[in-house]
Amino acid sequence: METGLKEAVPLLLGWYKDARRDLPWRRGERTPYSVLVSELMLQQTRVEAVKERYGRFLARFPTAEALAAASVEEVLKEWEGLGYYSRARSLHRAAKEIAAKGFPRTWEGVKALPGVGEYTAGAISSIALGLPVPAVDGNVLRILSRFFADPSPVDDAEVLRRDRALLKEVYPPQTGDFAEALMDLGATVCVPNGAPLCGACPWAGLCEAHRRGEEGRYPVRSEKKKRKTVTADVLVLVSNGKYAIEKRDEHGLLAGMYGFPFFEGGRVPESLGAVRAVKSARHIFTHIEWRMTGYLVDVPPEVAGALRYIWATPEEIRTRYAIPSAFKAFAEWVE
Ligand code: ADE
Repeated sequence: METGLKEAVPLLLGWYKDARRDLPWRRGERTPYSVLVSELMLQQTRVEAVKERYGRFLARFPTAEALAAASVEEVLKEWEGLGYYSRARSLHRAAKEIAAKGFPRTWEGVKALPGVGEYTAGAISSIALGLPVPAVDGNVLRILSRFFADPSPVDDAEVLRRDRALLKEVYPPQTGDFAEALMDLGATVCVPNGAPLCGACPWAGLCEAHRRGEEGRYPVRSEKKKRKTVTADVLVLVSNGKYAIEKRDEHGLLAGMYGFPFFEGGRVPESLGAVRAVKSARHIFTHIEWRMTGYLVDVPPEVAGALRYIWATPEEIRTRYAIPSAFKAFAEWVE
């Protein structure tokens, strides 16, 4: 199929030489393990947030062997604040597999690692292994939707399949640069919100949406799938300078993490003590939004003794229990 993509590739690589973002995980030597770390960290997390944490994580766990030797608590603690903690658990399990069997050499092997889906397997294969496997996410779908002025909804699985196939046909030998150039084009030029910066785009002369002056019409989306809203009451119980925390269920959001007592649907037990403050906060996950009301409550010692919570000092909360950032608004009450 003649799509114009073939001539687009060298233009993109030329642009990338000068325009590439200087990001911590792109500096210095990259090992397959370091690429695995950056790509898992970048799942569902903004580049800005990962920038601040990647170097620290790699300094603490420089190799798959070092990570494999750590306890899951240590890994979760280092991951604290990045959210989506199942990634940290997956990365830990992946490190154990890699320490035992070596880093996989094929896309299928990479894809079989814990926490690695199609997109991440494409990114790691391209960047770390030199394999011509496209990494297609919403950014790449948007770029190609505009490039072709494609009226098909980008959330259609068939479009994803087709875009992967088209990119695979034109993959250059500089596989990692090509994958990261597409990421940068999507992040800095062919942007999702507001008008794309076509004046800076290496593909402006080939892009069909731009030729028609209709960049804003693409990508087309089918009827939005809505995020589910969950309301909950969150208790910050204080007794004798200690705070109640609980280990969350092994299933569901923030599985196995420590959090404040959480009552989905807002069924707080009555008369625990004196409410000192109330505030509301939201946290948005990929498919769920939490709308929380938090209560800071002074609990008398006899009541505290009867409650089955872990009672932790502020110091222990800071150093030992990784409280997810979903609870950040209420963790501010801990002092
Ligand atoms: N998003 C996912 N992987 C990335 C990378 N290697 N560079 C920039 N953004 C990314």
